[in-house]
Amino acid sequence: MSERPNWTSKYAFIVTTIGSAVGLGNIWRFPYIMGQNGGAIFLAVYIILISTICFIPLINELYIGKLTKRECIGAYESINRNFKFLGVLNPITGILIAAFYFIVGGWIINYILKSILNFNINDYGEYFSNFIQQPVYPCILTILFLFICIFVTAKGVKNGIEATNKILMPLLAAILIFLVIISINLPNANIGLEYMFKPDFSKLNSHMVLAALGQAFFTLSIGMGALLTYGSYIKEDKSLVKSVYTIILSDTAFAILAGIMIFPAVFSFNMEPNSGAGLVFVTLPKIFSQIPYGNIVSLAFFILLLCAAITSGISIVEGPCASMVERFKISRAKACTILFIVISVLAIPATLSFGYLSDFKILGKTIFEFLDFLTSNLMLPLNTLFLCIISGWYLKIKGINIIKNKFFALLFDAGLRFVVPIALICLMLIGLN
Ligand code: PFF
Repeated sequence: MSERPNWTSKYAFIVTTIGSAVGLGNIWRFPYIMGQNGGAIFLAVYIILISTICFIPLINELYIGKLTKRECIGAYESINRNFKFLGVLNPITGILIAAFYFIVGGWIINYILKSILNFNINDYGEYFSNFIQQPVYPCILTILFLFICIFVTAKGVKNGIEATNKILMPLLAAILIFLVIISINLPNANIGLEYMFKPDFSKLNSHMVLAALGQAFFTLSIGMGALLTYGSYIKEDKSLVKSVYTIILSDTAFAILAGIMIFPAVFSFNMEPNSGAGLVFVTLPKIFSQIPYGNIVSLAFFILLLCAAITSGISIVEGPCASMVERFKISRAKACTILFIVISVLAIPATLSFGYLSDFKILGKTIFEFLDFLTSNLMLPLNTLFLCIISGWYLKIKGINIIKNKFFALLFDAGLRFVVPIALICLMLIGLN
C-alpha cells in the first residue's frame, strides 16, 4: 500500500476544505431555509452561530485528524480501543448522506442538459415533479453524478481531490459573482436585498435558532469524518485558527452571495421566497425563462450548483474511502469501486422514493426524507457530540494548545465541554420531534 497522502500546500488544504463546506447546503438549502425562516433575522442569527459555536467543533474535528494522522476509525481507536465503534459511525454517516445528496446532484445534471437543449416548459412545478417521479432517468443521473465524485476521489488526494478543487472553486466564485451582478440589476432588486438585510425581530423564535444551527453544522461538513480525514493530511505544524476562520468566512460569503443572487430575482418577479426545496428547481427556472439570455444564465447557474455539489460530494466519499484503504489495505481504486456499488444500492431506492417507491415509508417518511432526517438531525450532531466529549472530557484538550489568545482559549474550553454539547443535544431533541 502507498504512503499516507499529504496536502501539497496550505492553500491546497484550505481550498479543498472550503470546497467541502461550500455545496448544495449553501446554494440550494441555505436560501430556502432562510426563505422559510423570515429572511434577514435568520441571517443575523446564522452569522452569530457560525462564527462562535460552530468554530469549536470545526477546529476540534480538524485538530483530532491532525493529531492522530489517521482516518476516522483509526483516529478514534488510537485514542482508546473502545472508541472504535464510534469511529465506524463516521464513514457510515458519509455513505448514508451520499445516498440522498447525490440524487440532487443528478437533478442538477438534468437541468444543465435542459438549459443546453433549451426546450419549452409551460408549468415548471409540474415539470419538476414529473421528472423526479420517473423510474429510470433520475436513477441514471444519480449514478452519473456518483461516478464523477468517485472517479475524482479514486485519482487520489493530490491529483484528484486537490486538483479538482483548485479548478472548480475559483470557477464557482466567478460564476456566482457574475450571477449576483445580473440579479441585483433586475427591476425592484432592492426589495430582495431588504428582505435579506433588514431584520424583522418579530420572526425570532427558538425553532428558527435551531434551524440556523443545524444549517451551520451541515454547511461546514461537521460530523461525518470528512474534516477529520482532511485534517489528517495536514503535514506542517501551523496553527489551525486562521485556516478555520478563512473556511468559515468563505463558506458564509458563498451562502450570502447565493442569497443575493436568488432573492432579488425572486422578488423582482413577484414570486414567493418560502417555496422550500423547489426554490432552485421550480422558482428559479421560471425566472430564467422570463429574462433575456435566460438559457445562458440558467446554464451558468446549474454549472455553479454542479461545481459546488462535486467538491462537497468528493469530501463525502473521501472519508469512507480513506477508512477502507487504511483498514483493509486495499488500493483507492478498489475502495472506490466498492463504494460506488454500495452507494448505488442505497441511492437507487432513495431516488425511486419520489415515484415508484413513494408509498414505502420508514417512520412515516419516504426513503429520501428518512436518510436526510437520520443523518442531518441525528447522526451528524451525534458524531459531533461524541468527538467533543472525547476531546473535552477524555483527552482533556486545552484551548491554549490550539488558540494562542488566553481569553479565547478559555472560551474554547467552556464551549467544547459545555456549550456545544448542550446545543447539540437541543438540536437532536428538536430534530426528533
Ligand atoms: N457541506 C456540504 C454542503 O453544504 O452542501 C454538505 C456536506 C458535505 C455535509 C460533507 C457533510 C459532509 F461531510
